[in-house]
Amino acid sequence: NSVFQGRSLLAEKDFTAAELEYLVDFGLHLKALKKAGIPHHYLEGKNIALLFEKTSTRTRSAFTTAAIDLGAHPEFLGANDIQLGKKESVEDTAKVLGSMFDGIEFRGFSQKAVEQLAEFSGVPVWNGLTDEWHPTQMIADFMTVKENFGHLKGLTLTFMGDGRNNVANSLLVTGAILGVNIHIVAPKELHPAPEIEALANKFAAESGAHILITDDLDEGMKGTNIIYTDVWVSMGESNWEERVKLLTPYQVNMAALKKTGTPDGQLIVMHCLPAFHDTTTEYGKEIEAKYGITEMEITDEVFRSKYGRQFEEAENRMHSIKAIMAATLGNLFIPRV
Ligand code: CP
Ligand code: NVA
Repeated sequence: NSVFQGRSLLAEKDFTAAELEYLVDFGLHLKALKKAGIPHHYLEGKNIALLFEKTSTRTRSAFTTAAIDLGAHPEFLGANDIQLGKKESVEDTAKVLGSMFDGIEFRGFSQKAVEQLAEFSGVPVWNGLTDEWHPTQMIADFMTVKENFGHLKGLTLTFMGDGRNNVANSLLVTGAILGVNIHIVAPKELHPAPEIEALANKFAAESGAHILITDDLDEGMKGTNIIYTDVWVSMGESNWEERVKLLTPYQVNMAALKKTGTPDGQLIVMHCLPAFHDTTTEYGKEIEAKYGITEMEITDEVFRSKYGRQFEEAENRMHSIKAIMAATLGNLFIPRV
């Protein structure tokens, strides 16, 4: 049996650099199999529950298609479909789901809930995003980085925007584990929480990653290989006015890209999506009416430029989620890494 069998993916901090990079490489391998049309039914006969308290396009689609490609049966259980959170506790729900399903994905608000699901279900639980972490996103993201640069260690990834959100937390800690230098460029009010920074510093001391948390754009952008951003207002929040005011200087635009000084071919832009880069959506129109802006965290120009890798990144969600599910639940042998 491998080190992955039966394990849950709740937060990146529970995995070593070798384990995380193994999942990245396994995702790349499964992507190659998919492109070549080679079957990979590592989860034949398994049942997978997909619990979503918050909305999703990529994570839901990725888990669904990944499960089917692996030979498993996915079952979507949305916030309005089941008793969880209203009539029934996480503990009781976990015991019931664990008796019927072989693995559980959970997207919701509280990290405690995903931890309790893992504790009481007895089956692998995969965190599809909580207010604190977005670990399945990280495997897809570092897979995308490795595809573009051929390696991870020594690269510099700069996150611009809300430095306290789930994606920023995950990038900071995962980069620190993997030896990828992480810059968080954000206003002081939105710098990472001290305990997240301490955790990242602990891992960075082992991996040799350089961590920089700053509100200074010139210092933060310099030498960057990957500029990464995410929405200014995450699911469950509604403090638009404050965020627009604080984060406008930290928009990913061509001026920010120039500040990196990085030669062409060595710089890419990533976004976990969804992104607010134009006003074609209902949401975009509402923001324009209220705040008079047509773009937020990333300009349409950068989004559509040769630097943008957000759609490759989105596709990689499927391949990487396959890797995560197959490694932790699959009928396959993975050597100790
Ligand atoms: N990046 C991501 O998690 O997208 P969804 O919210 O659409 O799942
Ligand atoms: N920070 C965002 C990520 C969405 C994938 C949110 O939590 O809404």
